[in-house]
Amino acid sequence: MALIDKHGVIERNATLLLIFSFIVVTIGGIVEIVPLFYLQNTIEKVQGMRVYTPLEQTGRNIYIREGCYVCHSQMIRPMRDEVERYGHYSLAAESMYDHPFQWGSKRTGPDLARVGGRYSDQWHVDHLTDPQSVVPESIMPKYGFLKDRMIDPEHIEELLLTYRAVGDPYTDEMIENAKADFLAQADPDSDYDGLIERYGENVQVRNFDGAPGVSEMDALVAYLQMLGTLVDFSTFTPDKSR
Ligand code: HEC
Repeated sequence: MALIDKHGVIERNATLLLIFSFIVVTIGGIVEIVPLFYLQNTIEKVQGMRVYTPLEQTGRNIYIREGCYVCHSQMIRPMRDEVERYGHYSLAAESMYDHPFQWGSKRTGPDLARVGGRYSDQWHVDHLTDPQSVVPESIMPKYGFLKDRMIDPEHIEELLLTYRAVGDPYTDEMIENAKADFLAQADPDSDYDGLIERYGENVQVRNFDGAPGVSEMDALVAYLQMLGTLVDFSTFTPDKSR
């Protein structure tokens, strides 16, 4: 009997077919799952990644509150068209401090994983205030009200403590200085040495919305301008040892 005829036996017997299908799926499952138990870590550590500053973290919360993720993803897939349009594909480490992650699956608007530094602060403020004024065919809603909503950072320490509770390595010093760091990042005339010391050289200190005080617009633009800028891809080399 040729091999193909033997297979015919299985195909004609529903019970046999079920049993063999089950065996095949089980083997497939084991092959996929078992190696995960032997990995120390599924996220490769990457230089440059740091926890978000209090202002960026606040901006991120506004991003989530306003449902920006409904139209924007934050994950560049390793396919040529995506890499050419958006830049280096996203690394797992780049969303290691995202609770919850903002990968998304819906792209009514472009992916935002590397939008940081692509436009000026003023462009973001104009665009968020009235998207159609800079991109006439845009269907993005207006978010101008963010400029008028000032933030009182009275709960900023609790915010960082919450992220620490879910695993972000905020130090005691970061928690103690949360309020000062929050205010300093949006005020280039302030003494922001401590902020840079705690979070690193790649923290951007500016008056993001160009108006006095810290508004929700400041926080959101600070967050957007940070996206995708933490890892330096001119020096990044994937760890091939794993
Ligand atoms: C209804 C869907 C929708 C929502 C909600 C939305 N956007 Fe957009 N967004 C778009 C579309 C469409 C574009 C492309 C046209 C344009 O630039 O306005 C866009 C473009 C952008 C761009 C420019 C990206 C680039 O690379 O050119 C940024 C930045 C942006 N959106 C941020 C936000 C933020 C922040 C929020 C939440 C406050 C938000 N969007 C909410 C649809 C949306």
